[in-house]
Amino acid sequence: METSKLTVDLGSRSYDIIIGYDFLETLGKQLRALGFKGKLLVITDENVFPLYGDSCMKGLKEAGYSAKIEVIPAGEGSKSWSAADKLLTSALEFVMDRDSGIVALGGGVVGDLAGFVAATYLRGVAYVQVPTTLLAQVDSSVGGKVAINHPRGKNIIGAFYQPRLVLIDLKTLETLPVRELRTGMAEVVKYGIIRDRSFFDYLHEHLNPSLEQEKDFYKHIVYRSCVIKAEVVSEDEREGGIRAILNFGHTLGHALEAATSYKHFNHGEAVNFGMLLASRLAHMQGILDKESLKIIEEMLFRMGFKELPPGLTAAEIKEGLKYDKKRRGEKLVFILPEKIGKVRIYTDIPGSLLDRLIDEFLKEFK
Ligand SMILES: NC(=O)c1ccc[n+]([C@@H]2O[C@H](COP(=O)([O-])OP(=O)(O)OC[C@H]3O[C@@H](n4cnc5c(N)ncnc54)[C@H](O)[C@@H]3O)[C@@H](O)[C@H]2O)c1
Repeated sequence: METSKLTVDLGSRSYDIIIGYDFLETLGKQLRALGFKGKLLVITDENVFPLYGDSCMKGLKEAGYSAKIEVIPAGEGSKSWSAADKLLTSALEFVMDRDSGIVALGGGVVGDLAGFVAATYLRGVAYVQVPTTLLAQVDSSVGGKVAINHPRGKNIIGAFYQPRLVLIDLKTLETLPVRELRTGMAEVVKYGIIRDRSFFDYLHEHLNPSLEQEKDFYKHIVYRSCVIKAEVVSEDEREGGIRAILNFGHTLGHALEAATSYKHFNHGEAVNFGMLLASRLAHMQGILDKESLKIIEEMLFRMGFKELPPGLTAAEIKEGLKYDKKRRGEKLVFILPEKIGKVRIYTDIPGSLLDRLIDEFLKEFK
């Protein structure tokens, strides 16, 4: 499979996304081509290390780099001060200077944490993203949001700090558990609904519920998703306006995650429900027509919904909404579809409508 390339256009902070199959070992060569000179600290997690640690390190060493690898525990718990602190100490012990760089080899957890370390070490060293989950390939590796969590909230401590390169090896998806594949697919469907009707139609025609698809399918959907994310980020790097549309399905999705203490759903499972609820809300509010809602629902049901935990209440979901980061004062912010391929930001949704939406949802999925 030939590699494809696209650019995230951010003036002096622009960078390429290269998408290919089975080409992780070329990372060293790509970094040489970019003019990277210094030492490299590779950050990965305990699941990704045995699968891809060797080929990544081999490619870097063959290109003549002095590289060290750090392996963190897998999972959200690693987006912490203590994990960042250990990695910063490791960078110091490796005597990394301003020419040195960081490689994030893994999913969104590794990418967010490694990016945060890169943004803070010596006030910022270069880093590259080598995403190995579908979610990281289509979403978290592009756009420069880097963060760790605070015990009181996710992604509270962080920065906008762009990588120098994103290298996406689609072969890594072959070892990804299907539940993780599904979580990324929710974001892929999101791109179709928010910005690209013909991409949505492609997914509608080709996506099968098992997610066992041809390589070319994955190449196409990762490429299109990256194009859309890159366009939105280029227009609004620091989320002053349009970048907020990427949060479609996330207001109610986050509320569901918070209401279940981040234990029951993974992110994509919650976002899938969030997109269903936001689309229904748009229809109830007279923004989205019935036929479009039907098509969106059909797509989301095809991806499958996880059962709700027993005893989940409307009050718990509404409590979860209180902590939405996008809230403007007392007003909740919803990204709602006006048609497939176009969304708008709304802050004036009546509370009574929201109550009805949540009550009906709980009855249906109980
Ligand atoms: N920065 C952003 O713009 C942005 C956007 C969306 C999400 N995020 C963040 O991303 C994180 C979630 O990312 P994620 O869903 O990739 O989770 P993750 O990084 O925890 O990866 C999911 C699981 O898959 C494993 N894994 C990774 N690659 C694998 C592979 N190729 N084969 C087998 N196993 C593999 C990991 O070890 C982990 O157990 C969250 O912390 C979220 O806040 C950030």
